[in-house]
Formats: sequence, structure tokens, C-alpha cells
Amino acid sequence: MIYAVKQVGKVKSSINFFLFLSYNLKMRRELVTQGAEGRVYNAEWLGGSVIIKQRFPKQYRHPDLDAHITRERMKAEARALTRCRVYGIKTPVVFDVDFEKNEIILENIPQSMTVRNYIYEAAKNNILMDSELMLDLAEKIGQVLAKLHSNHIIHGDLTTSNMLLVPPYESSDVILIDFGLSSIDERAEDKAVDLYVLERAILSTHPNTEPFVAQALSVYELSGGKVAKDVIKRLDEVKLRGRKKLCFG
Ligand SMILES: Nc1ncnc2c1ncn2[C@@H]1O[C@H](COP(=O)(O)OP(=O)(O)O)[C@@H](O)[C@H]1O
Ligand SMILES: [Mg+2]
Repeated sequence: MIYAVKQVGKVKSSINFFLFLSYNLKMRRELVTQGAEGRVYNAEWLGGSVIIKQRFPKQYRHPDLDAHITRERMKAEARALTRCRVYGIKTPVVFDVDFEKNEIILENIPQSMTVRNYIYEAAKNNILMDSELMLDLAEKIGQVLAKLHSNHIIHGDLTTSNMLLVPPYESSDVILIDFGLSSIDERAEDKAVDLYVLERAILSTHPNTEPFVAQALSVYELSGGKVAKDVIKRLDEVKLRGRKKLCFG
């Protein structure tokens, strides 16, 4: 009897030890970025390297509204990341969505570099924005966005920080991330606004990128069929509205 109790005690303490260990492994995190909406960590999870995207409460919002918005963004993000993969658009795998901790656990894209940093590096190395290397990248961006929109996925926050490349960077696919503001919509309007946001983001982040943007848009139009043609037409209207807004407030 005493022996049996001792054995149970041993099993219990080894289970406790295991729980302690896995808890600590899960908790060991390294901050990657801290944005306005939340934090992104690098962590170990079930023996692999993952990215944890954690959203924190916004003090200025009513707590109920804030909880609702956070939940909707997490759902939108997990949904769009997975939907993209179904259509062959490269995105990180979604491992888990935790509404209690407001965290999404994603595949860590190893050695990835944002398109933003890639362009900065290129500029540092005197590579011109209308060089073949850069126009190739613009072409890949145009293609992936045409595919995204032909499947009616609106990204909602297209910037060069939300696109990743993996080594060898020159021949990498463009991997899309950060889908918290995404939606599903068939209308040309939302797709045109998506492109407008990207155009503004590129031109304001990276100098001399007019040829780069032009290349991305013309490849988008060429590879996206009728849907893309309508979007590009619509983009002109969106730009006009944008300019009027800037002029007249
Ligand atoms: N799956 C991932 N693999 C590797 N790095 C990532 C991954 N997801 C995000 N990152 C890095 O974290 C940064 C912020 O992530 P992002 O999803 O864009 O959140 P935020 O809403 O803070 O912009 C990215 O620009 C990228 O550098
Ligand atoms: Mg981002």
C-alpha cells in the first residue's frame, strides 16, 4: 500500500514537472515587434518555432466594444490566412487561435525579411528601383495581389511591412501576412482601395518607386483578367477622390 502511494506520488510529481516545463517553454518569448494593436513574439511551441500575435485592449474603447473588435480582427486574420493557403497564396500556417489570451499562434517563416527591409537594403547597395531585380519583385507583388483579389480576399492593410521574403530573397515568393483588417468582398471598389493603400504606402516609404508601383499595377492588370481590369479602372476614381480629399479636406 505504502509502495503504491509512493508510486502515485512519483507519477504525480513527474506530471507536475512536465507541466512546469511545458508551461515555461510556452512562456519563453522574444519580442519581435510592438505595434499599436498588439505585440508579436517569437516563441517555442510544441517543440517548434512559432510567432505569437497578441492583441491588447485599447484603453480609449468601451471594454465590450474593444473585446468585440479584437475578436473580429482575430477571426478575420485566421480566416484569411487559411483561405489564402487554400488558393495557393503563400501565408503562414495558423496553429491556434486563443480568444482568452487574444493570441494567434502562427508558423514562424524562418529567416524572413520584410519587403520593406529588402528594399531599404537594396537602396543602401545602390540598386536602383527600376533595376531588373526590383522590377521582378514588383512583378511578383502584382501577381500575388491579382490572385488574392481574384479570390475576393481584401487584405485591408497592404504595405511593404506586411509582405515577407525568404532566402534566397531574389527568387523568393511573396508571403503575405497581417490580415487583421481583411474581408471577403467581390466588389471592385474594395479591391481598388486595397491597391490605393499599397500605392500610397510604397510611394511614401520608399523614394523613387514610381516605376516599381507602375510595374506592380500593370502586372496585376495583365494577370488578373476581367476582375483586375475593372479594379484598375476603379483605382483611377479612388485616386481622384483621394486627391480631392487632400485638397478640400
Ligand atoms: N509568421 C511570421 N513569420 C516571421 N515573421 C513574422 C511573422 N508574422 C509577423 N512577423 C514579423 O512581425 C512583424 C509584425 O507582424 P504583423 O503581423 O505585420 O503585425 P502588426 O499588426 O504589428 O503589423 C512583421 O512585419 C514581421 O517582421
Ligand atoms: Mg504589419
